[in-house]
Amino acid sequence: MSQSDKQYNIALIRGDGIGPEIVEEAVKVLNAVSEKEDFTLNYEEYLMGGVAYEATKNPLPDATIAGCLKSDAILFGAIGGYKWDNLASELRPEAGLLKLRKALGLFANLRPVAVFDELLDASSMKPEVLKGVDLLVVRELTGGIYFGEPRENDGQRAYNTMVYTREEIIRIAKVAFESAMKRKKKVCSVDKANVLEVSRLWRSVVEEVAISYPEVELTHMYVDNAAMQIVREPKQFDVLLTGNIFGDILSDEASMMSGSIGLLPSSSIGGSVGLYEPIHGSAPDIVGQGIANPIATILSASMMLRFSLGEIKAADRIDNAIKHVLKDGYRTKDLARYNAKEVCTTEQIGSIIAKYVAQED
Ligand code: IPM
Ligand code: MG
Repeated sequence: MSQSDKQYNIALIRGDGIGPEIVEEAVKVLNAVSEKEDFTLNYEEYLMGGVAYEATKNPLPDATIAGCLKSDAILFGAIGGYKWDNLASELRPEAGLLKLRKALGLFANLRPVAVFDELLDASSMKPEVLKGVDLLVVRELTGGIYFGEPRENDGQRAYNTMVYTREEIIRIAKVAFESAMKRKKKVCSVDKANVLEVSRLWRSVVEEVAISYPEVELTHMYVDNAAMQIVREPKQFDVLLTGNIFGDILSDEASMMSGSIGLLPSSSIGGSVGLYEPIHGSAPDIVGQGIANPIATILSASMMLRFSLGEIKAADRIDNAIKHVLKDGYRTKDLARYNAKEVCTTEQIGSIIAKYVAQED
């Protein structure tokens, strides 16, 4: 087949733990869909996390930042592992990811939570509570307590600082309201305004931004209540707007509605290039066993096609293929107990999804 005119440059960051295994399957599916839809993806690999530390003593080499900046989009697996747990905080694999988000200006992290009907029984929550859940966590990603200064641990006393500026709140709130306009027009902003000054500023600035979106219904919820409401009645939510750490926590909680954390993708946007990654971590306990679920990464690749490359048909193809594969009973081990016709390895389910992508019309 001749090379098409449409070419995209993708920065691939496989990372640590199960990262390389799941990214491999996403590339397999991307190759199938690009052939089908007639565009070309040129991959360039970059190091980040523990593997980067081993090779360069730096979890985020300059070459990775430069490579990401000149690409059309970034697909990332996961970072971290026991081996690097005792390193100084700026050398840890996680510091690589945090610095990359900051360096690229990726202040908004979108984490959609949808429940596949075929997996309603896979969640620890009741099917009737889950059926029809469709929410989006809009998590602030480059501020808050993750980045606030001062921060210190002298062995006797340790502290971090949760800080947000008006500008940081305005820009993330706009992303939430814009997203809501394309959905059910509801934003629930999460804070801890009964205790924290930073949350009181957050709440009042979100209210100011809301004035420009009169069609969107805005509510506020304390984070403890939000954590409870997510398991009590998740269908009440459309867009959940959160700061960095609250979004980190609530999105892991919300992922359990889908049945496995191995199913949820995310996109990080706000800079000149978008980064796409599963919400789960590097799962060092299951590395190399062929049991990691690559679907979150494959769905992240689909988001990349949709939002960074504008290849909507290709993204739809992947999303539909995943629905079909689940409907036909193919499951990785994390979901094996639920309506499984066949329990697959990481590699097998990637190949099956790629096959469906190529077949469908
Ligand atoms: C996530 C992860 C990261 C975070 C870690 C790996 C630094 O948990 O993307 O949710 O806390 O943001
Ligand atoms: Mg997390």
